[in-house]
Amino acid sequence: MSVFVVDGGRVLSGKVRLQGSKNSSLPILAATLLCRGECVLHNCPRLSDVEASLKILRYIGCTAQREENTVIVDTDNVTRCEIPTELMHRMRSSIIFLGAMIARFDRVRMSFPGGCELGPRPIDLHLNALREMGVEISEDHGELDCCVQDVLHGANIVLPLPSVGATENIMIAAATAKGATIISNAAREPEIVDLADFLNSCGAQIHGAGESTIFIDGVDRLSPTTHAMIPDRIVAATLMSAAAVTGSDILMTGVVPSHLESVFPVFRDSGCEIEYDGEGVRISAPYRLQSPKLIRTMPYPGFPTDAQAPVMSMAAVADGMTVFVENMFLSRYSHVSELCRFGADIRVEGKVAVVDGVKRLLSANVRAQDLRGAAALVVAALCARGQSEISGIEYLERGYEELELVLSSLGADVKKI
Ligand code: UD1
Repeated sequence: MSVFVVDGGRVLSGKVRLQGSKNSSLPILAATLLCRGECVLHNCPRLSDVEASLKILRYIGCTAQREENTVIVDTDNVTRCEIPTELMHRMRSSIIFLGAMIARFDRVRMSFPGGCELGPRPIDLHLNALREMGVEISEDHGELDCCVQDVLHGANIVLPLPSVGATENIMIAAATAKGATIISNAAREPEIVDLADFLNSCGAQIHGAGESTIFIDGVDRLSPTTHAMIPDRIVAATLMSAAAVTGSDILMTGVVPSHLESVFPVFRDSGCEIEYDGEGVRISAPYRLQSPKLIRTMPYPGFPTDAQAPVMSMAAVADGMTVFVENMFLSRYSHVSELCRFGADIRVEGKVAVVDGVKRLLSANVRAQDLRGAAALVVAALCARGQSEISGIEYLERGYEELELVLSSLGADVKKI
């Protein structure tokens, strides 16, 4: 198992290109199953979650090759319509194969996705929606057996909450279902728009992605295409946190500023300057940060839950108190106890975390317990005085592509051992 060894206190500078989005790559890789042919996907990051998706595709019978950050998937010769438990459990997002497998085979057998470090993550919305589209689903000892009854058909689906994964599963299943589907209270994340762009470039008829109501007219078949993933807005928020805590000035290229509209104000409230031009987004941090006061995680376009942990490391060294309200997941504060080892002053009560900013953090040996929590610990170590060791790096590598090299290229002292 790898650890990060970080010598904190270095000021960062320079330019970095943002990696492609993990949360776009996973549903788009699953959706290639609908295309029956060779899809070329650019800007597809080298992450363990992406590799887990490629493993599932290969198990089903697809060929999937990677050249740098381009992945070529050929879904012509699929042979299996089940996913073994071992592959399902590698990542929680494997549930995104449900809609794609149903659309391709009319049936699928898979286990429930593995447990999750963020607390219970039910999939009832995914299952209810597919049932409305004509899929019979039986659940037995952690296994899902799904079979289209007569024909996979469109439906009028009202989501009780705007689940990202459920919206994606419905979009994928509906793309080639018979008739029209309307998703009300759909998730509006940029990754939903990216999936719709991919499917539409394959010949799907999806309108309204990025808004609360999505209209899908089922088409007979989709054709392979070439697509580039959008940049990863959560990695952008993490790098901004890293710049903020080290009093640095960095330029990120390949950013879509509109994806970060709820994130920029938090950094501006903390005293950072943010500018963007044709080249990218520049963040310049002050010597001493101000507390951003209140951060409430919400579905897009609200503040992203995935950015809560790295931004908390920034609040930990800002002048004043910041209140975090985590509205998306029950148990998303596992980084707090580890941040306190650096000397952060944080108290948690239910979904609220109160952070009293301290002047500086001190080095510590800490253990990451989830993906974004791991990023928070790296951010904290970058500004902590002395040498810190972070274990649990396998979580980080689910979503960050060679973060140690990215940070080192900006002047940080981070080694993966
Ligand atoms: C996606 C993202 C994840 C992000 C999350 C929220 C991917 C691969 N992952 O996860 O990084 O943190 O969106 O922005 O894109 N829920 C139910 N029943 C369901 C489905 C969800 O109750 O059937 C609840 C969840 O428990 C959670 C909330 O809905 O409280 C939001 O979850 P959802 O939007 O589905 O998140 P994911 O798609 O799993």
